[in-house]
Amino acid sequence: MLTMGKAITRRRAVAVLTATLLATGLAACGNSDTGDKPADDGKLTLGFSQVGAESGWRTANTNSIKESATAAGIELKFDDAQGKQENQITAIRNYIQQKVDVIAFSPVVESGWDTVLKEAKDAGIPVILTDRSVDSADKSLYKTFIGSDFVKEGKLSGEWLVNETKSATGTVNIVELQGTTGSAPANDRKKGFAEAIAANPNLKVIASQTGDFTRAGGKAVMEQFLKANPKIDVLFAHNDDMGLGALEAITAAGKVPGKDIKIITIDAVKDGMQALADGKFNFIAECSPLLGPQLMDLVKKVSKGETIPQRIETEEGTFTPEQAKAALPTRKY
Ligand code: AHR
Repeated sequence: MLTMGKAITRRRAVAVLTATLLATGLAACGNSDTGDKPADDGKLTLGFSQVGAESGWRTANTNSIKESATAAGIELKFDDAQGKQENQITAIRNYIQQKVDVIAFSPVVESGWDTVLKEAKDAGIPVILTDRSVDSADKSLYKTFIGSDFVKEGKLSGEWLVNETKSATGTVNIVELQGTTGSAPANDRKKGFAEAIAANPNLKVIASQTGDFTRAGGKAVMEQFLKANPKIDVLFAHNDDMGLGALEAITAAGKVPGKDIKIITIDAVKDGMQALADGKFNFIAECSPLLGPQLMDLVKKVSKGETIPQRIETEEGTFTPEQAKAALPTRKY
């Protein structure tokens, strides 16, 4: 027979054991309230840190990633870094703490990632770079890069200009609107364009400044270019949005975009393609934002430990006004 004291002790012991079992069970399953991995429902979890929402390209890229994650049955934790590297580092550290299965991100700038990438590696979480790469010497810090060949995009833009101006007699004055300072597309597109025009000394870049990949930036910098330079023949903008902003400045200065000033851009988003079809732009080198489906496929592969290539490049083309007119009706972004 149990005495009163023994009964209470035993009830207490059962309560303590139940609480311990519950706590152990919860810890094993994970709990989003505590910041741990969510309950294991068989779904892979992807932590994705996006650059921001600076351009039409970026919006299309974000949509592609969100839609593809849903379609692939992958749980997506999405963070918008608002153009700041420190926000991306914080987001990556949060994903490491939450023990996501895979981390992917599109780095705002190329440098300064080694420490946080090493933290992810030490935690055993594979990292996929999307759209933009990093300049880390240690390639084991990430599994793969998926995105465009930005040098080639700059090169194609320059080659078009060389061909277009082959019968020009005098100097052709070019102004360049660069993307975000220190970003892979700004560095590489500038390099590719410079290489393509290098053998033609009559093609001169007379001004080159960042417009941060935004319409507002493109407009403001183009206004300065126009004030400082009475003769501008060509604008090379590192993306459509800056080119579209520059259009406003050119029109306001009483010049005809596409005629008085030839305009070359990169991306081929709908608004850019419309400007090209309307004859306000002259040439676009394509950069595809639709990376979502391939990314989800890679997330599944790296989670299974499958070997994947170190670099996967997107296939892209170029557009003239005629080609833009033909492509516009079915353009998805
Ligand atoms: O990294 C891709 C570039 O970033 C796109 O060309 C540009 O529009 C975007 O903001």
